Amino acid sequence: MNAWTIQETEGHRHLQRSAQPSPVPTTGEVLVRVRAVSLNYRDFINLDKQRPGNLPPPLIPCSDGAGEVVAVGDGVARFRIGDRVAGIFFRDWIAGRFDLRYHQAALGGSLHGMLAEFTTLPEHALVSVPAHLSYEEAATLPCAAVTAWQALFTRGGLVPGASVLVLGTGGVSTFALQLAKAAGAHVFVTSSSDEKLARATTLGATATVNYITHPEWDQEIWRLTEKRGVDHVIEVGGPGTLPRSMNAVAAGGQIALIGVLTGFAAPDASLFPLMARNIRMDGIYVGSRADFEALNTFLSAHQIHPIIDAVFPFSEAPAACEHLRSAAHFGKVVISLP
Ligand SMILES: NC(=O)c1ccc[n+]([C@@H]2O[C@H](COP(=O)([O-])OP(=O)(O)OC[C@H]3O[C@@H](n4cnc5c(N)ncnc54)[C@H](OP(=O)(O)O)[C@@H]3O)[C@@H](O)[C@H]2O)c1
Repeated sequence: MNAWTIQETEGHRHLQRSAQPSPVPTTGEVLVRVRAVSLNYRDFINLDKQRPGNLPPPLIPCSDGAGEVVAVGDGVARFRIGDRVAGIFFRDWIAGRFDLRYHQAALGGSLHGMLAEFTTLPEHALVSVPAHLSYEEAATLPCAAVTAWQALFTRGGLVPGASVLVLGTGGVSTFALQLAKAAGAHVFVTSSSDEKLARATTLGATATVNYITHPEWDQEIWRLTEKRGVDHVIEVGGPGTLPRSMNAVAAGGQIALIGVLTGFAAPDASLFPLMARNIRMDGIYVGSRADFEALNTFLSAHQIHPIIDAVFPFSEAPAACEHLRSAAHFGKVVISLP
């Protein structure tokens, strides 16, 4: 089979396409013919640098993929040949509270990922794809959508009428916008682009703020919410945005700490506002299979289709990565396999 792997040549890391032995399912495993893969910001973090705990090169990258079951090993009971499935991000996180050992089996990091024509996974590491979604759409779900789901619902307890702030219009934020809107929330969106903000409005955003023309966007959120703040912040920015997110959240609200778009450093801010406002801060790392299944039920009930910015053929995987890196996208970037 063909697969893309992260290779390292004289200290330079890059993607390389090569022929690999086709995997064969053993007892309890399912062989999936991968039909689509989606990219996440994490994928080029892993491409650029050897992260602690990740497999060294050659690593097949990408946590997110969907495809068709083409063979099953002995004892497989959850799936049959022909079923449409997607892999879960943490192979062994089925339900309940997180355990540190789940980091040892994260697709596209500590385990090989989905950017290959075929993959084998234990049957417990797959979910059924909702009937209304294409393979391209289903491939966007395992990381970004499950993360937004866990942040808003499993941990956030989002209720109709609550307010949600999403930062930017990348994968996680766009899913958070769609899910929160469908749940009856008021969603505030920031972006560097007025054009993207106009698209967010068509998806149902209540109000939008351009964080380039309004670098003090927290004050805009404060003004727009009549000095109340928002109930939930989908914090994908990290140290560069957290201080303003703390200013933008309402008393008793929640900050879902998700991303590192501004890096891994410590935030340059007092944490006192968290206490003064009785704010809850939840560290979020994707979610369990149970989160994924609950998400799928919700997507089906509301007939939600993920927002796909661009689809690249398998042969152009490096160009797809560069498109994501450019941050020109709105929503998700997908790689399609024949
Ligand atoms: N903890 C987890 O489980 C988890 C899961 C998924 C992702 N993440 C993390 O969450 C972050 C987002 O991931 P993603 O895959 O959704 O990324 P993505 O699709 O690449 O998002 C990129 C977008 O983020 C926005 N952005 C960049 N810098 C910003 C800033 N300073 N303030 C506000 N928005 C900014 C931009 O939106 P505009 O162009 O509209 O300005 C940009 O287009 C990443 O750090 C990723 O590692 C964490």
